[in-house]
Amino acid sequence: MNNNFQNNIFWQKHSITRLKREKKNGHKSIVLWFTGLSGSGKSTIANFLEEILFKNGINSYLLDGDNIRSGLCSDLSFSLADRNENIRRIGEVVKMMLHAGLIILVSVISPYRNQREMVRQMLGKKNFLEVFIDTPIEICESRDPKKLYKQARTGQISDFTGIQCTYETPNTPDVLLKGTDSLKNNSKKLIKILYDHNIISFINID
Ligand code: ADX
Repeated sequence: MNNNFQNNIFWQKHSITRLKREKKNGHKSIVLWFTGLSGSGKSTIANFLEEILFKNGINSYLLDGDNIRSGLCSDLSFSLADRNENIRRIGEVVKMMLHAGLIILVSVISPYRNQREMVRQMLGKKNFLEVFIDTPIEICESRDPKKLYKQARTGQISDFTGIQCTYETPNTPDVLLKGTDSLKNNSKKLIKILYDHNIISFINID
């Protein structure tokens, strides 16, 4: 029996290309990869931005760590190997969504620099913008919307990012946002970077 099954897989080329989809959409495709501690504001900011994009007719999709871990990655734990696999799978989904012509917002802790570098390489530098939500852990812990910091402090969770596991801050993120700044200000900065990279043309943020 031939077990070298990868040799029997052939990439299918499709007639409807990314370029055709981008032309139809009137904007280009890219991923904004939001990284930061749990409770830093990644999902809230990404959601706020997506509302603005949606109102302006921009085709986007928000991939959120908790949601992905409820389905596609529900078999994965928070061990290092599983966190790496979580990021790899998300990267593969993003790759397809780039071809679908979307602006993809990814909101995952992605705590390690080499994980974020892995997806940057996987997707290509021009497709990837790293957005660091810089919120001090004391503030994240005081917010504690899911009461997970509390559980980590009392030992009910053993591998929580920021408490027992490291979060490696990006050295040179493409965008640095303060998680304590207003949603509107943070969205303006993200929209500016989309303009600066010629992804979108003028949009109304009010
Ligand atoms: S990542 O480290 O693999 O990138 P991901 O963003 O997918 O993490 O999932 C993080 C979410 O899972 C957090 O927002 C939190 O709600 C939940 N969670 C549960 N256990 C942990 C843990 N040990 N460390 C971090 N987040 C956890």
